[in-house]
Amino acid sequence: MSEPSTRPPPSLGQTVPLVMPLYSSSVYTLPDLDALDRVMNAEAPGYIYARDAHPNARRLAQLLAEDEGADWGLVTGSGMAAITALVVATTQHGQRIVASNRLYGRTTQLFSQELGRFGVAAEYVDANDLEQVEAALAKGARLLFVETMSNPLVRVVDIANLATLAHRHNCLLVVDNTFATPVLTKPLDLGADLVMESLTKMISGHSDVTLGFVGGNDADMLPALTAAVSIWGLASSPFDCWLAERGLATLELRMHAACQNAARLAEWLADQANVTRVVYPGRLDHPDHKLAPEVLRGGFGNMLCFELDGGRDAVNRFMRQAPGIPFSPSLGHSATTLSHPATTSHRYASPAERRRQGITDGLIRLSVGCEDVEAIRHEMKKGLQ
Ligand SMILES: Cc1ncc(COP(=O)(O)O)c(C=O)c1O
Repeated sequence: MSEPSTRPPPSLGQTVPLVMPLYSSSVYTLPDLDALDRVMNAEAPGYIYARDAHPNARRLAQLLAEDEGADWGLVTGSGMAAITALVVATTQHGQRIVASNRLYGRTTQLFSQELGRFGVAAEYVDANDLEQVEAALAKGARLLFVETMSNPLVRVVDIANLATLAHRHNCLLVVDNTFATPVLTKPLDLGADLVMESLTKMISGHSDVTLGFVGGNDADMLPALTAAVSIWGLASSPFDCWLAERGLATLELRMHAACQNAARLAEWLADQANVTRVVYPGRLDHPDHKLAPEVLRGGFGNMLCFELDGGRDAVNRFMRQAPGIPFSPSLGHSATTLSHPATTSHRYASPAERRRQGITDGLIRLSVGCEDVEAIRHEMKKGLQ
């Protein structure tokens, strides 16, 4: 008796599904060994094993590559999987990474704790200080790794000048574009060699997916990256890719609405009595206010921070009084959420390091969503009372 799964699917006739179907199969069947050889040798299209490739990941990667202006793209099981894959595929024992000293905490841990064990060293620099970056690159480096906008204080880096410096020193510039998304900037167009995204955030946009992406223009890098994803087990789930494709369809709309909301909230927050500081690149007092429009086209982003007079107690009060802005330590949800950097993303940074970065106990980070700005303001007012 034939296994149900090996029966051909019901015929669709001349009709084609409007929406990409979900291919949840972890393995594909082949008619014979010759067909296997053709697929394995890339002489014919097809799939064999989902950890190597599957239609939902391939389709999502193509769409994202187009959005980023990349010749090729790969989807991975998380943003961290994308960073792991690109580092594994491009670095060797004895090489160095120069990285921003404001990276996402797990990225810093990957570079310092994990890669150190494999003989790849990391040096951290202020990526907004080009002289410091150049001095570190002059000692020799394989990768320069930065984020377009940093967490939580939204420092914007000068991607074009960083690319020039990296290339002068025979180094690849890698940009984590998670906070900006390709709606606000396309790092490859500004000279970066590789771009990565945590799709978990704005791109998927509904807090129900964990995925990553890496894209580039140099086709020679693709085989090593594809191998790293399969061998190190960094592959994506078809269902998550299917959901992310759906999120991607509204990314531009959501990002523009969220950026507008963030700009309006930043101005409004600056006028509130118990708010002592507002951090947003769209404001004149942000250190990267002038640079930001050269890097970000079409807005200053949807991430902002504000500081409450009264430290941790004031933050607790705000959270309890404004439950409509959920405390959830991630970002990129369709509706506004908040986080508290001092006890979440920067929990394990020393108090001195938090002070250096300006992350106080009263600092709240908002991931502004695309709901009606009046509704957000209404809830914020309750929190600020
Ligand atoms: C800037 C940035 N890069 C990378 C990551 C890692 O992404 P993921 O959680 O999808 O592994 C995050 C997660 O918060 C992030 O904020």
